[in-house]
Amino acid sequence: MITPKITEKFREIQTPFYYYDLDVLRSTLDILKKESDNSGYKVHYAVKANHNPRILKLISSYGFGADCVSWNEIAAAINAGFRPEEIVFAGVGKTDREIESALNAGIFCFNCESIPEIEVIDYLASLQKKSARIALRINPYIEAHTHKYITTGIEESKFGINTWELDNVIKKLSELNNVELIGMHFHIGSQITRMSVFKSLCLKLNELQNWFSSRGLFLEVVNVGGGLGIDYENPDKYPPIEEYFTLLNEFIDLIPGQTIHMEPGRSVIGQCGSLISRVLYIKNGSNTQFAIIDAGMTDLIRPALYQAHHKIENLSSIEGIYRYDVVGPVCESSDTFAKFIELPETKRGDFLAIRSAGAYGEAMASRYNLRELPSSVFSDDL
Ligand code: LLP
Repeated sequence: MITPKITEKFREIQTPFYYYDLDVLRSTLDILKKESDNSGYKVHYAVKANHNPRILKLISSYGFGADCVSWNEIAAAINAGFRPEEIVFAGVGKTDREIESALNAGIFCFNCESIPEIEVIDYLASLQKKSARIALRINPYIEAHTHKYITTGIEESKFGINTWELDNVIKKLSELNNVELIGMHFHIGSQITRMSVFKSLCLKLNELQNWFSSRGLFLEVVNVGGGLGIDYENPDKYPPIEEYFTLLNEFIDLIPGQTIHMEPGRSVIGQCGSLISRVLYIKNGSNTQFAIIDAGMTDLIRPALYQAHHKIENLSSIEGIYRYDVVGPVCESSDTFAKFIELPETKRGDFLAIRSAGAYGEAMASRYNLRELPSSVFSDDL
């Protein structure tokens, strides 16, 4: 909730900026900590969702690990206090330099996506006279029922190792001396709101457990990835973290000695962030009125890229109900945050909050049109 008192403080600050409600973040982290401690799960926060140093510091202070997809993310995580032994490194295209640096840093595990990648890791580890811990990211062919750009575990996905290739992987591993297989890993997509999707993942995972056991292979790490969705319609509602844990506890058949790992991103950081913008102009269109704001797709690309819906609130006005297309200043028609939405009467200078923007907002900002990157403002400082 962004109260009138907080809005008053925004007057001093240049827009657009990300506003992070750290009490909301702490409450989410408290829930995640309680659930993961109770269940004995290991959480690796997905740094790609938001790599703001202050956010990373707060999350690392809870003792969570990190899930990274580049060496720069690993370095940022370590800088913010995450311990290398609790960092996992994912991605279909890890470069040699990134692998070398990660080996040097002594990360927990590489989540591997292909045989050629495993061969390169083995070779680079041999040069350092090390053994690299790896988990196999397996493509379980599960439809995540989310936007197609963030569906990652179906047959056509570039991600993960196909189950029909697992025999070859195991054979290859028996020939390599500098990699140690410690786990299986999945990530089937993001913004998943149907719990039944996660149930399907658990059932597939159990099948694969049997496959590995029948070959005499024990994997201590069972990593279910991220993907838990948030409620973009109701920005003040917390994500269903407890329900998610209950489901995993109920449906995953763990073998003694195994630990469940997870990599939540959006469900940790999505809710607490809002993009705050000022209205520049109200312009008459043929069928609509445009509220042209000073934030654009360079600050928050999700609506342009995934047709994502973020709730928009006018923090300065409560009178009347009008319809507006809320658009940014960037020279692209896709620079539109919402079409024909109801808002109170909106005028130049009003503050608009684009809610639920903590995840994949600031992290995906660009300087297209040579715009400034958005700054960040934290509730603790106001
Ligand atoms: N683990 C892996 C291997 C991933 O690829 C991802 C996200 C996560 C964990 C974290 O997923 P989450 O809990 O945040 O759903 N830019 C898109 C989302 C891309 C997600 C990419 N992978 C968006 O704005 O919706």
